Amino acid sequence: MPALANVDAVFALLEAGGGAAYFGEPVTVLEHSLQSAWFVQRKGAPDTLISAALLHDLGHLLHGEGEDAADRGLDTQHEKLAAALLEGHLPVAVLDPIRLHVAAKRYLCHANPRYLAALSTASVASLALQGGPMWDTEAEAFLALPYAQDSLALRHADDAAKVPGLAVPELAAYRPLINALWR
Ligand SMILES: [Fe+2]
Repeated sequence: MPALANVDAVFALLEAGGGAAYFGEPVTVLEHSLQSAWFVQRKGAPDTLISAALLHDLGHLLHGEGEDAADRGLDTQHEKLAAALLEGHLPVAVLDPIRLHVAAKRYLCHANPRYLAALSTASVASLALQGGPMWDTEAEAFLALPYAQDSLALRHADDAAKVPGLAVPELAAYRPLINALWR
């Protein structure tokens, strides 16, 4: 597992692994990450949330389990993996939305039946492994978390960021933003 000791390592990982297909979706991991960042950015998100959107699926580039992990009944916990490796380098306002973007999906499946119905096939497959829709008490606890709203915004961008061939800013455009937040 590569250590993410500096911004170079993070960007190298996104560039190297980012060409891989994105878990049953019609875009690569890098395209998906760039679209996620762009979708929150164009809604006026703060730099911390833009960074979280760009980096939210880094864990998928680290666990090495391949695209068929969910088919094999495996929850890779990619959200925790990415946050753990970035811990200490980026503020909690970046780490928590990354950590919570799967919980946000489980919350939205609880709160909105139409959200659940509109999930992609790959997202439905992983949902079952991630614990399914939240229960009432889980949903209440989730909403009380400091970065619940940012996590939900990230999740909506995540779900939309699967557009083949969409023109969005390239990876280098986000370098200054991550550099400024990195410790
Ligand atoms: Fe994602």
